[in-house]
Amino acid sequence: MTAQAHEDHEAESKHTAESLNGTERSVTNGRYPAERAPQPVATRVQPPRYAQIIGWGYEVPERVVTNQDLEQIVDTQDEWIRTRTGIEERRVVAEPLETTASLGTQAARKALEVADLHPAKVDLVICATSSPEHLFPSTASIIQDNLGITQAGAFDLSAACSGFVYALSVARGQIMAGDAEYVLVIGSETLSRMVDWTDRTTCVLFGDGAGAVLLAASDVPGGVTATVLGSDGSGAELLTIPSGGSAAPASLETVSNGSHYIRMDGRAVFRFATRIMAEATRQVLDRAGVPVSEVDLVVPHQANKRIIQHSVLRQLKIPEDKVYVNVHKYGNTSSASIPIALCEAIDEGKVAPGDNLVFVGFGAGLTWGACAVKWSVPIEKPETSWWHTTQRQAAYQAAAARSMWKRAIRRLYSQVEPRAMTRRPVRKPDNEQPTP
Ligand code: COA
Repeated sequence: MTAQAHEDHEAESKHTAESLNGTERSVTNGRYPAERAPQPVATRVQPPRYAQIIGWGYEVPERVVTNQDLEQIVDTQDEWIRTRTGIEERRVVAEPLETTASLGTQAARKALEVADLHPAKVDLVICATSSPEHLFPSTASIIQDNLGITQAGAFDLSAACSGFVYALSVARGQIMAGDAEYVLVIGSETLSRMVDWTDRTTCVLFGDGAGAVLLAASDVPGGVTATVLGSDGSGAELLTIPSGGSAAPASLETVSNGSHYIRMDGRAVFRFATRIMAEATRQVLDRAGVPVSEVDLVVPHQANKRIIQHSVLRQLKIPEDKVYVNVHKYGNTSSASIPIALCEAIDEGKVAPGDNLVFVGFGAGLTWGACAVKWSVPIEKPETSWWHTTQRQAAYQAAAARSMWKRAIRRLYSQVEPRAMTRRPVRKPDNEQPTP
């Protein structure tokens, strides 16, 4: 880029950034103006791209399970759970129809509503989850089908409770590389189906829910500005579901010894978490060039209130009102906890354009991750046009119909094909038979 081109770009970015602080939301929807529509790579002048969060949403099951409810099923006390974890209640899926994909679908729908974006425009769906619907197909593919996102790739990301931060980092990379314009990042969990409800050391901790954000390519500086990811596999056995994978496939034995449930060394995980949350926050702020004193809001993984107090609050001396906590309402929803907390922080008016945010998480693996975000879009829900809303509703209905139609056609083929295969082959004349 020449000096003049650079200056022009800076001036334009400044202009659009000013627009962003007002109400011109469409700029953040990320598409380049027509004159800068994608050109062949060889001739394309690459302006800097930024990954802005332009939509957000969350979904939690209606059913509330309180600490008192748990007192009825395991040897525990409300007082113990509150003082050791800060958790008062959690949400748990009630119906067989409520699943990781259904919660993720609802959260993603809400994110598309906020961004006022038609699902067909999404380029990539990433679902961070430790409780996928199946080992395969991916939960992301099911969500993609549910929403009629027809032009996108979709995959699950497994990094346990750090999953959302990992997924955000991957989405940012896709956008900055120019490979995607819109990426849906979802964290969705139904860990209540993975815990042993007779094990008081784990069942009191986890809850179900989903959160989603929509990332868009933009030439407005800001958005997800820096990320840090880490892993220490030597701690793999500290937090694990030992069976059900290829190392120990499901069998009568794995079911009878309960090794398909979550197993955890709580104290060791606690020690790791308090150290790594502070460290990752510090690192990502260094990368983003933001001093700790200029952080407006930390949205940490909601595993335990004491972990949050011992890490970001105490070690980094970030005041309490700048750290968002909602673990008392939902427990540990793993990869969904950060996006759910972000959505609630937004709803409570704790996020404003220009704010410096940090998302920081840790989890099984052991893994950890942090993202620095310069919030750039207006928080007020924009006036979504009735026409766009109608189009989206129609797209969801069309998606359901298309999916049913494709399944029916496949069923039909599968009934017809075997008969075709057993049909007697046409015998060629003897002189055309292959010779041995
Ligand atoms: N109710 C009552 N007592 C319980 C209990 C429960 N639900 N769970 C454990 N206890 C008991 C233990 O059996 C132990 O009794 P003992 O001393 O007679 O053996 C006692 O409480 C203390 O257990 P301890 O494990 O030392 O408690 P703790 O203060 O470390 O708190 C955790 C336990 C799990 C809350 C805490 O270690 C923790 O939060 N760790 C991190 C877990 C986490 O975040 N995992 C998810 C990562 S994404």
